[in-house]
Amino acid sequence: MTTQELKNKILEAKKETGTVILAHTYQEPDIIDVADVTGDSFFLSKKAAELKAKRVVMCGVRFMAESVKILSPETETILPVASATCPMAEQILPERVREFKEENPDTQVVAYINTTAALKAECDVCVTSSSAIKIVKKLEGKDILFIPDQHLGSFVAKNVPEKNIILWDGYCPVHAQLTKEDVIECKKKYPDAVFAVHPESPKEVVELADMVGATSDIIKYAKEQKGNVIIGTERGVVDYLSPHEENGERFIQLAPEKLCCEDMKKISLEDVYKAIIGEGGEKVELDEALRKKALVSINRMLELG
Ligand code: 13P
Ligand code: SF4
Repeated sequence: MTTQELKNKILEAKKETGTVILAHTYQEPDIIDVADVTGDSFFLSKKAAELKAKRVVMCGVRFMAESVKILSPETETILPVASATCPMAEQILPERVREFKEENPDTQVVAYINTTAALKAECDVCVTSSSAIKIVKKLEGKDILFIPDQHLGSFVAKNVPEKNIILWDGYCPVHAQLTKEDVIECKKKYPDAVFAVHPESPKEVVELADMVGATSDIIKYAKEQKGNVIIGTERGVVDYLSPHEENGERFIQLAPEKLCCEDMKKISLEDVYKAIIGEGGEKVELDEALRKKALVSINRMLELG
């Protein structure tokens, strides 16, 4: 079967089963082609809440499928490949957060959306990379524990100096590999290019950027520029931007050998098809008490962000 034939089968199966495909922008272009909604984690969370779909196939990583289930418990939510997980989402144990809160009752725990549902259930509010600064600014109280990403946390701390932000030592194994030498090398090749980067990157890399933002912010910024843009995030973003570009290759991938998230790339068109027809993937189920607790922090994120 050709790729196009498989895509056509997916489109038919979607209609027949009333399935909605959500896909994070890091997914392969073929997956983006068959998706109903694409975007970054904040946008997909908001959409999941609005859609109230009967069935969702979430093309992304596990925490994203869990977010859909937390927001829409009635929706049958399928992760096409069960092993597609974000390593950062489990870099702190829920028990550790509970202990911290007992020891520090006045400190608010802010969790990046890249966390398990069990972690979200223990924190006070969730944030995404696009909403973190805005939400942290609005929180009452000065003391904050930011989990799990130290790099996003330190970017927030720099932008919200009025808060006392304690950082956890987690990190994204993809973005954290970037070095300032990667940027300097790339800028030598493209001296006129501006540089946009995701805040999961190390501080010394972020400091060299013309723009720092979440996936959606990077896409918006890149499209607005007239000249070349160096993209310092997962390479799916360059794949996503390129078909929109009529004037050749304007978007330059920083460190392509490093910026590939293997978990995000695990899902194939075959996996999506099998998930739609009920022959593959994992139906995401959450304990109801845990779901309700996690919902409180996600709802707070949606209200404040
Ligand atoms: P966004 O919040 O920008 O979608 O990022 C999610 C992610 O996993 C980044 O690596
Ligand atoms: Fe997780 Fe990093 Fe992959 Fe994003 S790029 S899903 S943060 S491992």
